[in-house]
Amino acid sequence: MIVLDGISDLRTVVREWRGDGCSIAFVPTMGNLHAGHLALVEQAGSLGDRVVASIFVNPLQFGPGEDFVTYPRTLDADRAALEKLETDLLFIPDVQGMYPDAIDSTTRVDVPALDNILCGAHRPGFFTGVATVVAKLFNMVQPDTAVFGEKDYQQLLVIRQMVKDLSWPIEVAGVPTVREPDGLAMSSRNGYLTPRERSKAPELYRILCDVAGKIQAGESGYPALESKAMESLSQAGFRPDYVSIRCATTLAQPEPGEPDLVILAAAWMGTARLIDNVRISAS
Ligand code: PAJ
Repeated sequence: MIVLDGISDLRTVVREWRGDGCSIAFVPTMGNLHAGHLALVEQAGSLGDRVVASIFVNPLQFGPGEDFVTYPRTLDADRAALEKLETDLLFIPDVQGMYPDAIDSTTRVDVPALDNILCGAHRPGFFTGVATVVAKLFNMVQPDTAVFGEKDYQQLLVIRQMVKDLSWPIEVAGVPTVREPDGLAMSSRNGYLTPRERSKAPELYRILCDVAGKIQAGESGYPALESKAMESLSQAGFRPDYVSIRCATTLAQPEPGEPDLVILAAAWMGTARLIDNVRISAS
């Protein structure tokens, strides 16, 4: 595995691969890799001739008071895990390389169709930070395919919208959420949970599955289902930000009879903000 931190070195390798006729599949991450990230890398292996992964904890997507400083950084273990999966190149830029000029005034990418709702409403600027860094990484890596997790469902749609709006010739592939045996979606932020909080955390997924079951059984009063789920989360020890039933392709409020739905939630358990979602077909 080639490991590079410089943008021009990365461009040289990518240019060579392209010259050899190789396609490139790319997995951007913030590191502290778990089986969810590694499923993306494996998927990338089946989608491109060369696999590039990146690790960069992106300051632009963290709000004031959020966990940028404490976000887990485990480069040696991450590197070993990627090496085992036969990743071709690991790109590990630093903040100075990614944002050489003042970060506050850097050029940004907004995706207004999707970036102010749900998680975007609770974390102002978050999706602009994500879209901006992913746009920069796409320009550096020039992938044919980029792989993202469905766990961050709104992020996946933001990236798809950005790629469409900016006419990039990039296929965006989504990979289903990888879960712990008790149902909790794997996340680097699960490490913030105390043992007691960790034992309660799977309730988030269970409550979303419960809402899905009710919709599948014919319940269509979505606002009531959402507020009931918020109550259940509070009773289970969460501080919920939202539970929302949305159209799975646009994240719009669903019209009656909408067949393709996603139930999304974000909720705090102690100092960890957990997100999860369940997709369903109501038909
Ligand atoms: P990070 O949280 O490290 O996640 C990197 C990728 O792994 C994302 O596409 C995310 O959806 C996926 N992922 C995380 N947990 C997963 C799970 N349990 N199952 C499946 N996929 C999972 O998301 C980011 O980093 C950043 O916002 C980034 C896109 C890298 C931009 O900075």
